[in-house]
Amino acid sequence: MGCEISPELAQGALETLQSMQDPNGGFGGGNRQVPHLADTYAAVMALALLESEDALGIVDREKMLGWLIRMKQSDGSFCMHEDGEVDVRGTYCALVIASLLNIMTPEVTEGCAEFIAKCQTWEGGISLYPGVEAHGGYTLCGLAALEILGRSDILDLKRLSRWMILRQLPFEGGFNGRANKLVDGCYSYWQGGSFVLLQKALKRSQAQDYLFDREALQRYVLACCQARDRRGGLRDKPGKSSDLYHTMYVLCGLSLAQHYVGVEPEKIVSSTESVYSVPVRMMQWGAILKGLNVLGHRSNLVKPIHPVYAIPFSPLAKAVKYFYSLPPLAETLH
Ligand code: FPP
Ligand code: ZN
Repeated sequence: MGCEISPELAQGALETLQSMQDPNGGFGGGNRQVPHLADTYAAVMALALLESEDALGIVDREKMLGWLIRMKQSDGSFCMHEDGEVDVRGTYCALVIASLLNIMTPEVTEGCAEFIAKCQTWEGGISLYPGVEAHGGYTLCGLAALEILGRSDILDLKRLSRWMILRQLPFEGGFNGRANKLVDGCYSYWQGGSFVLLQKALKRSQAQDYLFDREALQRYVLACCQARDRRGGLRDKPGKSSDLYHTMYVLCGLSLAQHYVGVEPEKIVSSTESVYSVPVRMMQWGAILKGLNVLGHRSNLVKPIHPVYAIPFSPLAKAVKYFYSLPPLAETLH
């Protein structure tokens, strides 16, 4: 939203996150909790938002790489934590972390795209694990992970497009997460971000716009997702309370509906050969000024975000520059 993070808040956040880093790699959800992939993704992205080398420098990359490799399964998937559940969230979190920290080794990436492809269902969306129901949250995770790998072409994109366009509800304007379910504000990001990623996967240009109604989504967010009580924040739907999770992902969805964030087809970097194709692919994305489409007053405008990393471009670029300027880790570590 463009709000300033005060030096006191930044220092407090840095120290809190530091206390959650496990001595053997990864971050837990709280002090002395076991390291968990979702918490580690959140911690790393929060550190990136602090926009300082002090904050980025607290991450132990060697230990992180070793921990990610310990979470890796033989079918290309990841456990969310030691002895924990395995699903496509793990793949997304691991690849977001590894791509940002410049630790995308073959041990991390091998088999990931093939595992995600097995999660695409007969409906076209992506499920949490092969054989179960397609869902918006996991569709974003799968598509974003494939974008990091440069492997979106492994999916049946036509079937995926069909499933996705059926997720925007004609009356509410927001998205549901799966067939025959209710609208929920957080899918503004899970499904909205998937549309942004699909746009690139299909090599569609800005002239064709996204395959969802950007104004209808903004109307749902602005009219139905803002909590009217003193607490403020954003919510799932009228009648529900606001919470930090919905505030974060509803705002991300609003941002993606207001801005056109994309890569024009002729500029797509398709090479997956070199480690340096990863930051190039990450930083190809950008907001295209002509694509701005803000419903209502200008004060509704929020910053553009990256569809994979769900943070604005400036902190992301600083983090990429910081981690990709560091010497590569020796391949044998872990
Ligand atoms: C509701 O399922 C679940 C959600 C609203 C969360 C979906 C998001 C993810 C799975 C992605 C998580 C990603 C990270 C990085 C942690 P439900 O069955 O209660 O709701 P439904 O009725 O809308 O299907
Ligand atoms: Zn929700």
